[in-house]
Amino acid sequence: MSELIDAVRERYAAKALQMARPGVTGSLDLSCGLTEAERTERRVEWRAIDDTALVDRVESGGTVTSTYLSSPATRAELTRLVQAERVCCGTAGWALRDDGDRLRVTVQAESATCCGDDCCGATYSSDELASVGITARASLGCGNPMLLADLRSGETVLDLGSGAGLDVLLSARRVGPGGHAYGVDMTDEMLAVARENQAKAGVANASSLKATIEAIPLPDASVDVVISNCVINLAADKQAVLREARRVLRPGGRFAVADMVALAELPADVKRSLDQWAGCVAGTISVDEYAAALRDAGFNGIAVEVTREVRLEGVDGAIASAYIRATA
Ligand SMILES: C[S@@+](CC[C@H](N)C(=O)[O-])C[C@H]1O[C@@H](n2cnc3c(N)ncnc32)[C@H](O)[C@@H]1O
Repeated sequence: MSELIDAVRERYAAKALQMARPGVTGSLDLSCGLTEAERTERRVEWRAIDDTALVDRVESGGTVTSTYLSSPATRAELTRLVQAERVCCGTAGWALRDDGDRLRVTVQAESATCCGDDCCGATYSSDELASVGITARASLGCGNPMLLADLRSGETVLDLGSGAGLDVLLSARRVGPGGHAYGVDMTDEMLAVARENQAKAGVANASSLKATIEAIPLPDASVDVVISNCVINLAADKQAVLREARRVLRPGGRFAVADMVALAELPADVKRSLDQWAGCVAGTISVDEYAAALRDAGFNGIAVEVTREVRLEGVDGAIASAYIRATA
């Protein structure tokens, strides 16, 4: 179990460092949470294909477009590399287009679309983002919990696995000065990014707490709404997380979560892969298992809505993003 937690922490520490280091997009250095050795290997692979076939690279409106001379070998290698980039949560919308004698790779530098249009994809309006002054790139989520949480003035909100803090800041704005938004995350590097984002946004009614979501450092019945965005699938002990969510919620409190779920049995090698676990794939459970786990934790009014199937090699159609609601 600690192996899984280490893999998750390592991935999101790397993502936090990428977020804290702007301006990497021109070099296409967006590979998600890979180890340093894997990242070096990935860079070498991109450099090799660039050296062989790249004819142009331009960045415009937040999208980097790289144009390659087409050949069967280049097409095969670009297909493999783009697929590899898209496997990870938090890497912005990679796509490969075949234009006859040219192949075009695009990546949306400023969109935080989880794995491109085919995957989870958090959706925030520009007004929402403007209200906290940070870009969607701060999101590694697979939905927008604001759409289900129906937050009201004066409420206390808790975000499980709050990452760079976008949902915490949006919640804090919604509940106003009489309310409070807490984010819990276990990764120091993410907490540092979240605190910096909070300072930039000038939001006073929010706090980032360092803890695991299996042991939430808040009293019983102290929270009105628990939100989370693409995190519970990463937890090794989901029952402990849901029990904790139930414990901190006041009677009648709401659980409003975006997460990844499994639609079919995943291949055994995928289930065993630490990388696929940290990438929001291998740790997914089915809709029925999710609902049963919520029931066991004492929730009522459980509803799971699958929002988008994921198209990824090896798990095509087997995982999806979902909105999950329940009442304490
Ligand atoms: C996929 S990111 C999502 C971040 C954020 N919710 C968002 O929408 O951008 C997962 C985050 O959850 C944190 N995390 C994963 N497992 C955790 C656990 N068991 N306890 C606390 N934090 C966890 C990671 O450190 C990371 O910041």
